[in-house]
Amino acid sequence: MKVTLKIFRYNPETDMKPHYDRFVVEAEATDRILDLLESIKNYQDGTLSYRRSCAHGICGSDAMRINGVNRLACKALVKDVGNKVTVEPILGLPVEKDLIVDMEPFFDHYRSVMPYFVGGEENPKKEQMQSPEDRERFDDTTKCILCAACTTSCPSFWASGEYIGPSAMVNAHRFIFDSRDQAAAERLKILNDQYGVYRCHTIFNCTDACPREIQITKAIGELKKAIVTARLD
Ligand code: FES
Repeated sequence: MKVTLKIFRYNPETDMKPHYDRFVVEAEATDRILDLLESIKNYQDGTLSYRRSCAHGICGSDAMRINGVNRLACKALVKDVGNKVTVEPILGLPVEKDLIVDMEPFFDHYRSVMPYFVGGEENPKKEQMQSPEDRERFDDTTKCILCAACTTSCPSFWASGEYIGPSAMVNAHRFIFDSRDQAAAERLKILNDQYGVYRCHTIFNCTDACPREIQITKAIGELKKAIVTARLD
């Protein structure tokens, strides 16, 4: 079949403002949108710019808006999106070129929640054990691949880039609910900020956008509850 792609283009070095280019590509129903972008880049316009690496839904580098919905281009199939496809960069982050956005503001929020394990003893003599039930407590939030599909689908983030956003909260959740971690109170204090958990208005866009099917809104609800029940100095 023939698929028509309308693709957002912007090169800040040469363009006064963004525009859209149209390309027609011969495709199979089971081709991925990333395959079509590769075909355009290889055979029609080598200047088309986008990020991709693994091409298998693992690295999280090719999140983009496909027909108005945040998806990974390597997981979106032609048969699921149709033969007229609009491809745009994710919203709320500055566009660097075409479909590439500046991810630094997103990673600043990620870094702000201490997304690493904080142990107790400095050189423990034995392994810190954890029951299967305790491990299960944060299993869902270990699945994040930092693609930013959730954060950039959130109207609260569009309204203010200072909002920490769903992805950072997912990564905070992963450690706050780890029974071995010692820095939960510190992270909850960070999330109790004016740009923290209470900016979430339970819209569920993040949950719908997540390519790993993480129950993000549920995780944020658990963080809100933990803040209410924790004794924060
Ligand atoms: S290219 Fe790695 S997730 Fe799509």
